[in-house]
Amino acid sequence: MSSKESDRIVVLDFGSQYSHLICRRIRDFAVRAELLSFDTDTTEVLSADTKGVILSGGPSSTYAENAPMPQQGILDSNIPILGICYGHQVIVSRYGGVVKRASREYGHSTLMIHDSDGLFGGLDSSMTAWMSHGDEAETIPDGFRVIGQTSSAAAAAICDDSNRIFGLQFHPEVAHTPKGVDILYNFAVKICGAKQNWTMEAFTSSTIKRLSHTTGRVLCGVSGGVDSSVVAVLLHKAIGDNLRCVFVENGLLRHNEASEVKEMFADLGIPVDVIDASESFLNSLSGIDDPEDKRKIIGEEFVRAFTEYSKKNGPFQWLAQGTLYPDVIESGVSGGPAAVIKSHHNVGGLPKWLGLGIIEPLRDLYKDEVRAVGGILGVPSKFLQRHPFPGPGLAVRIMGRITPNKLRICRQASRIVEEEIISAGLYEDIWQAYAAVGDDLAVGVVGDSRMHGHVVMIRVVKSIDAMTADWARLDHTLLESMSNRITNEIDEVTWVTYAISSKPPATIEPQ
Ligand code: XMP
Repeated sequence: MSSKESDRIVVLDFGSQYSHLICRRIRDFAVRAELLSFDTDTTEVLSADTKGVILSGGPSSTYAENAPMPQQGILDSNIPILGICYGHQVIVSRYGGVVKRASREYGHSTLMIHDSDGLFGGLDSSMTAWMSHGDEAETIPDGFRVIGQTSSAAAAAICDDSNRIFGLQFHPEVAHTPKGVDILYNFAVKICGAKQNWTMEAFTSSTIKRLSHTTGRVLCGVSGGVDSSVVAVLLHKAIGDNLRCVFVENGLLRHNEASEVKEMFADLGIPVDVIDASESFLNSLSGIDDPEDKRKIIGEEFVRAFTEYSKKNGPFQWLAQGTLYPDVIESGVSGGPAAVIKSHHNVGGLPKWLGLGIIEPLRDLYKDEVRAVGGILGVPSKFLQRHPFPGPGLAVRIMGRITPNKLRICRQASRIVEEEIISAGLYEDIWQAYAAVGDDLAVGVVGDSRMHGHVVMIRVVKSIDAMTADWARLDHTLLESMSNRITNEIDEVTWVTYAISSKPPATIEPQ
């Protein structure tokens, strides 16, 4: 299904860390939800497919100078509106109530519900609700009534029945509000009447149909990651031989990676051209210490490899990319992460003279939706569940210069860490698990003699979206067996450490 064929709920983003989560929760019950910046034009927000609008939370106060506000035309329209946290306060202040500073409330509260219908239809008379706010409604606007309260917030849920406008001081989208999804369902489906036809089966078949109208040849770089694999399969089903898939062996891949990727595509019946550019990548990286320089060089090497390929095998008219929805949408208020801490761009743009248009079949999807599409298309689950792997590969796990020796240690030790995580049955609970190596040496005793060997750092983290991450509290016997295997199987390693820094302040990769 192209996105325009289904009803949608628009979520206006006021900068909450949970804004994307609202969309994801709604999509879970097969209604299309899209995140737009808080100041998006009324006409764009209220397009024919929009059945309701949600105002997200955010860090601002409605009484502050320059407080972010939606366009007035949206508030004046007949569309149902639900405000969450800051969005609730927008509703209170814009329709004539008063918002005041309150003592900060953070954590679980019990919401007493005064309504058994509408937004709270099908719910009990009380429920757990997750609060995170510093302001609250002092008076609510005329025409509104209180439909829920907590011990500290007298107007934790309000509604204007005749105009179908609702405000919730708490966050229904987070898992800490266990019945929150029911509230979002009641709003989107019962109150707004949005159709539940945003299914990945429908998306898959309509995307293949749409892509089949592509004229010209498409170049698609594949890495073995979920996104590029799913893009390749969609395009192969749509345009067959007009698709050329390219896999670049850059010398920085995991153990056996290149052969596994080749095998998977062979099983899927999709031809892949493998470019072995490892010598060129590793030569360009020799003597380079700075991680950002490494990324830049790797980006340039990828561009060079693709450019050479398309000169030889072209012409191509299109380049396919695995861009996902969160990559497309930046947070409305903050304009995305405050500072670009690492430049996560691997394939910097290909030269303009190649004249390639861009095809991004996944730009409306979240990662879990991409996995579902991959499952429908028959991509093996081993690939769909695979941990993310950075585009610059092992280069960001080797601190200091990249040498053949450090590369081998990093690759072998990472394989051991992954194998141990898999055999402990933890693979799917873990975001990433690998080993990193730098130039630090430490003394060890091997046989009867002392030797200086490398220090290897094991990094195993849990995360939801890589924006934050926590180190995994692994069982000591599991750490022990990783450590023993690393020192036994890799001669040059004498010490093994476990990284117990969370993100922030650390990042997931050491470089
Ligand atoms: P950090 O290290 O910033 O990583 O906490 C967050 C997520 O991004 C991955 N990562 C990269 N991915 N190119 C990529 O494609 C990069 O340069 C890069 N650096 C980090 C990292 O593996 C984690 O999943």
